[in-house]
Amino acid sequence: MLNFAIQTAREAGRILAERIGRVLQVSNKGDIDLVTESDLASEKLIIERIRSHYPRHAILAEESGEAVATEIQSEWKWIVDPLDGTTNYAHGYPCFCVSIGLERSGRIELGVVYDPLRDEVFAAERGRGTTLNERRIRVSSIEELNQAMLCTGFPYDVRERPHFARHFSNFTMEAQAVRRDGSAALDLAYVAAGRFDGFWEDGLSPWDVAAGVLLVEEAGGRVSDFRGDPLDIYTPQVLVSNGAIHESMMRVLSG
Ligand code: IPD
Ligand code: CA
Ligand code: CA
Repeated sequence: MLNFAIQTAREAGRILAERIGRVLQVSNKGDIDLVTESDLASEKLIIERIRSHYPRHAILAEESGEAVATEIQSEWKWIVDPLDGTTNYAHGYPCFCVSIGLERSGRIELGVVYDPLRDEVFAAERGRGTTLNERRIRVSSIEELNQAMLCTGFPYDVRERPHFARHFSNFTMEAQAVRRDGSAALDLAYVAAGRFDGFWEDGLSPWDVAAGVLLVEEAGGRVSDFRGDPLDIYTPQVLVSNGAIHESMMRVLSG
């Protein structure tokens, strides 16, 4: 199943890479929330492949949402973001990916994040570690927040999340650096690879994080909500780190 997920993410990624920079049909889902033709084409390919290989599995995909999710009842559920980083993509900013996770009875069993521009496949299966282009990766070994490079995201409803600005400014003061790349799934993959030491965001959806949280766990990192409780991917708050700086990040988020 992992090979199937990798192959599917690669094919979907090819669609995204081929179309970037072309004049795109862009629509607004919300105030600042976009969807392009490429999101839809990528999602169509992924759903068709899952339906033909695993017709009894359920699917939760961002653009089709509950419409596909409730069609089939199954302990297996594919959780799909066909294009994570849509705003970047629509502006031609080269930071986006495809994210595919597979949940079984409420637990994520495999995850794949694919960046088609760098041809980087991040993949994990529960209990078997995380790889980047088939090589094992691990989280960083940074122990102090003031040496850490962190990443965050601004959710589309950031205007309704008053704590965001305080958290952002506190982390900016305490960490070595804070980045905002605009693709949560890729941010999580980068924590797994040790490129970032930690990531937080309030306002995420299950398709943003389903694959990425397994990548981090299997690379030896820690995943929780802002209070340190076990993560429920269906709730919006996500905190991931290399483990060593997790408590320090929780302290900042509680302030
Ligand atoms: C968004 C990106 C962004 C994050 C938003 C997500 P989309 O996903 O992951 O980094 O800050 O909360 O909704 O819309 O590009 O798939
Ligand atoms: Ca997303
Ligand atoms: Ca998306």
